[in-house]
Amino acid sequence: MKATTKNKQERVLTGITTTGTPHLGNYVGAIRPAIAASKQNDVSAYYFLADFHALIKCQDPQVVHKSTQEIAATWLAFGLDPNNVAFYRQSDIPEIPQLCWYLNCIAPKGLMNRAHAYKDATQKNIDSGEDNDFGVAMGLFSYPVLMAADILMFNGTKVPVGRDQIQHIEMARDIAQRFNYLYGKHFSLPEAVVDSETAVLQGLDGRKMSKSYGNTIPLFLPENQLKKHINKIKTNLLEPGEPKDPETSAIFQIWKAFAPQKQTDYMRKEFENGIAWGEAKKQLFELVNGEIEGPRVRYNELMESPDYIESILCEGARKARTYSVPFLEKLNKAVGLYSLEKGSS
Ligand code: TRP
Repeated sequence: MKATTKNKQERVLTGITTTGTPHLGNYVGAIRPAIAASKQNDVSAYYFLADFHALIKCQDPQVVHKSTQEIAATWLAFGLDPNNVAFYRQSDIPEIPQLCWYLNCIAPKGLMNRAHAYKDATQKNIDSGEDNDFGVAMGLFSYPVLMAADILMFNGTKVPVGRDQIQHIEMARDIAQRFNYLYGKHFSLPEAVVDSETAVLQGLDGRKMSKSYGNTIPLFLPENQLKKHINKIKTNLLEPGEPKDPETSAIFQIWKAFAPQKQTDYMRKEFENGIAWGEAKKQLFELVNGEIEGPRVRYNELMESPDYIESILCEGARKARTYSVPFLEKLNKAVGLYSLEKGSS
């Protein structure tokens, strides 16, 4: 993530949906830059496990529960220091769903109609001759409002996200502006931070590495499994000795995301010199494994210590709520929900 302007007021906030097991793409695209950002001492950082969001996509309680632990363990294993951030579970902050309702009451429905996730779902239905809203739950439809509540509850100003989420941050701004217009200026307007430098990894089949394509390399596979996955990365039929194009190769793209500049230059030469695919994969395995073997040990230890993770998350929620509890009280008053006793206005 690019260093943002030095400003003590900067509040970096981002959420990680707790469905599925983290993969190499999540690491280079989100985890690594977010941990780096949390080390800057001129920002306050709020990172949370978006488990309310997980329920939109996944109705398997065990998967949601386990994924929460896996994702928390992953962030901690890579060195997220809970002293630098408020690291919490969304469902531990009851102020979020309460604010979400206030926002729902003012968020224009027409705005939600334009959200990509909803539009994709309805388009699929139209293409297959179903009713537009077939299988679309209210959770999916109003998901940008929940995201707005996540952000506005902590007055997040900088929100590091993937490109696909920019629209949601813009919606959060619109909703914040509308609230401010109606009730007074309570919310700062959040901005998406999308780093063009951040790698978007290709997956095993050359498309973007993504859970939904089933082409991922999970982060903390045992070594031999990691090797197997890397060996499965799709290549073309060029023989050893034939020059290969680094720019179209998933192997090279992953290499670049893990290697310092010098090693990237080295591999580009190797491609020009016709490195064998098998050899390139072997070197890629060593490079990636080198970066994750330490964290893998910590991850496995953490997965054996759920009580420890729980204590970190509870402390994170406590810290986060020192902001959200008094802020929600102010918002309650702003919308007109407060005690009838004299003197409480
Ligand atoms: N929807 C985001 C994603 O799928 C995760 C998320 C939930 C989030 N709430 C957020 C990201 C608030 C930033 C801010 O990636």
